[in-house]
Amino acid sequence: MQYKILLSTLALLASCTVGQDTSLATVKNAFNTANIPTDAQINFNPSVLLEVAFPQAAGRPVQVHAGIQLPRNATAIPPTFSVRDRAFLPRQEFVVAMVDLDAPTPQTPTSAQIRHFLGGNFHTVPSLGDQERLVNETQAISNFLQPTPPAGSDPHRYVFLLFEQPNGFNQQTLVTGNTSIANFNISSFASEVGLGNPIGGSFILVGPDPTTA
Ligand SMILES: *[C@@H]1O[C@H](CO)[C@@H](O)[C@H](O)[C@H]1NC(C)=O
Ligand SMILES: *[C@@H]1O[C@H](CO)[C@@H](O)[C@H](O)[C@H]1NC(C)=O
Ligand SMILES: *[C@@H]1O[C@H](CO)[C@@H](O)[C@H](O)[C@H]1NC(C)=O
Ligand SMILES: *[C@@H]1O[C@H](CO)[C@@H](O)[C@H](O)[C@H]1NC(C)=O
Repeated sequence: MQYKILLSTLALLASCTVGQDTSLATVKNAFNTANIPTDAQINFNPSVLLEVAFPQAAGRPVQVHAGIQLPRNATAIPPTFSVRDRAFLPRQEFVVAMVDLDAPTPQTPTSAQIRHFLGGNFHTVPSLGDQERLVNETQAISNFLQPTPPAGSDPHRYVFLLFEQPNGFNQQTLVTGNTSIANFNISSFASEVGLGNPIGGSFILVGPDPTTA
C-alpha cells in the first residue's frame, strides 16, 4: 500500500518536473479532444514527439504538454523546440508553425487563424538522451508573436505543428514577412507549398491577462 503511494507520488513528481508528453497516443488524443484536426483541417497522425518549452526571464523554462493552460506572462519569450523518439537524416530540415485557432474568440473565430510563428530551416542537434534540439540559423518567415487573447475571451488554442521541409521551401512567396498574420490557413498553406501532413505537434491554451479579463 505505502509502496503504491510512494510510486504514484514519484510518478506525479516526475510528470511535474518533466512536464512533457511521453507518448504520441496522448498527444493525438489531446488534439482530438480539443477538436484541433477538424478546426484546422489537418490530418494529425504524429510520428515524432514535438517538445515545446517557453524560456522564462527567471528560473527554468516552462515545458509544454499538449493542452496545458499557461498564464499569458509565461509565454513572452519565443519558445524553443525539440524532438524525441525518432532518428532523422543529419541534413534533414523542418518547418515549424504556431497558429491561434480561436481569434478573436473561440465562439466567433472570424480572424483565425492568426499566424504566431512560421519558420523553416530547422535542423536537429543532439541534446540530452534521445532528445534532439531543433535549431534554426535563418530568420523566421513570421517572427514569434506572444499570445494576446482579448479581454473577456475564453482561452484560445495555440497550436504548434512540425513539418518535414520540402525542397524549394525557401523560394516560396505565398507567405512572407509582409503577409497579414490574420486569416491564415495552415492547411491550405501546407498543401500549396508541399509540406504534407504534420509529423508532430503540441498546443497550449492561453486566456486573457487576469487584469484585463
Ligand atoms: C505572472 O503573473 C502572475 C499573477 O500576476 C504572477 O504571480 C507570476 O509570478 C507572473 N509570472 C511571470 C513569469 O511573470
Ligand atoms: C529562429 O527562430 C526563432 C523562434 O523560435 C526566432 O526568434 C529567431 O529569430 C530565428 N533565428 C534566427 C537566426 O533568425
Ligand atoms: C515587404 O515590403 C517592403 C516594402 O514594400 C519590401 O521592401 C520588402 O522587400 C518586403 N519584404 C518581403 C519579405 O517581401
Ligand atoms: C483552409 O484550407 C482548407 C484546405 O485547402 C480548406 O478546405 C478550408 O476550407 C480552408 N479553411 C478556411 C476557413 O478557409
